[in-house]
Amino acid sequence: MRIGVFGAGYVGLVTAVCLAEIGHLLQVVEVDGDKVEKLNNGISTIYEPGLTELLERNISRGNIYFTNDSSSVIEHSEVIFLCVGTPPKPDGSADLSQIESAVREIARYAREDDFKLIVVKSTVPVGTAKQLRELVRNEMQGRRLNLEIASNPEFLREGSAVSDFMNPDRIVMGTVSARAQALLGSVYESFDCPKIFTSPETSEIIKYAANSFLATKISFINMVADLCEEVGADVSLVAEGMGYDKRIGPEFLRAGIGFGGSCFPKDLQAFLHVGKSKGLDFGLLEEVISINNRRSLRVVQKLKAHLNGLNGKKVSILGLAFKSNTDDVRESPAAKLIKLLAQEGAVIKATDPLSIENFRRMYPDLVEYVQFYEQAEAAVAGSHAAVVVTDWKEYKDLNWKQIKDSMARPVVFDTRNMLNADDMLDNNYEYLAIGKDIVHLTESLT
Ligand code: UDX
Repeated sequence: MRIGVFGAGYVGLVTAVCLAEIGHLLQVVEVDGDKVEKLNNGISTIYEPGLTELLERNISRGNIYFTNDSSSVIEHSEVIFLCVGTPPKPDGSADLSQIESAVREIARYAREDDFKLIVVKSTVPVGTAKQLRELVRNEMQGRRLNLEIASNPEFLREGSAVSDFMNPDRIVMGTVSARAQALLGSVYESFDCPKIFTSPETSEIIKYAANSFLATKISFINMVADLCEEVGADVSLVAEGMGYDKRIGPEFLRAGIGFGGSCFPKDLQAFLHVGKSKGLDFGLLEEVISINNRRSLRVVQKLKAHLNGLNGKKVSILGLAFKSNTDDVRESPAAKLIKLLAQEGAVIKATDPLSIENFRRMYPDLVEYVQFYEQAEAAVAGSHAAVVVTDWKEYKDLNWKQIKDSMARPVVFDTRNMLNADDMLDNNYEYLAIGKDIVHLTESLT
């Protein structure tokens, strides 16, 4: 099928490359000329495992092409996916201006004798497809409407987006007409997974509700983690005990420093905004957000108490990305943590296997940066505490036994509960974690 994609950002690029891989013919509109050139040369503009290989293969077999000429893409395509940004406005609502201008453009070039299905993949508030239909109606100015707006949310996780696209838990398709449903269904014909055909409104809500629910699980377990610390229980085992219940499930119950990234914080705010705008009490989500916002502060308070103050103390930050296997630092807990530590007078150096450059661009003067692969040990040497902020496997593989002697004080605060507590204690670290009073637990065993 001939498919167009607007926007070669994160979602657009992964979607386009994967659709090309399953045999569709893709043309992608991207306004950034540098990006277009790189992508046409097979150079991926984002880091995502497996993406470069698929990009190269599909360029060479002629299944994908990038351009900034939107008219030719509109002409070429039966189905056009909109994957442009929907950043939050100051009041938390989603800014739809990029989506609207793409729809206007498509409406301008659309012909009466050539049906086009516009599929919104970007995360948008419920009611957007309806609103866009109105917009198209106004743009058509007397011409017959031969467009339909559908909703088809993505559920891709950064770091495993290609594999998530190729092996989805489900595909949600929100359409109005039978024609649009059949057309969108045939885009995903080769996928063998549950497919939900519904209205655009239901589809739009599914996306926000799913992300809000996952975020709620995380804040819930983080709330429980605080109690575990107070009473000497172990949150990892509490989560395991809960997770065996099939109605709960084990996923998204890892307590830690809180969720970040380009989706959860933004989507929660937008869902909350939609609920409120309909006069509903969405206070549950306010609490989910506020529990998350307090995570970094709690880590700083615990560290401050443990070190007897932070003024002048050297603290190493291990991890700047919002999670492992990505170079994305948007809404990373590391930023909040570093700012709070700096306010307390701590002297901070930081490292990360992939995201130093992205972090430095956002916060040029906040910390001293140490390249991970060249100087992993130097990142920790001389410090009074090392704080593991991102769950990079690389931190597990550090030679902790050897590193200890280079530290001013062997304190490790593992905010992801990812290191082996027994090993850390055997190596004589003062090991702090989330939702477990490690010292208390060891005392009770001896
Ligand atoms: C998320 C959704 O999972 C995906 O479906 C949607 O399309 C986009 O948003 P992503 O932002 O890539 O994907 O990250 P995800 O792996 O879901 O993690 C989100 C945040 O929650 C990260 O900061 C992660 O570290 C944190 N997290 C996740 C926890 O703190 N505990 C957990 O148990 C799981």
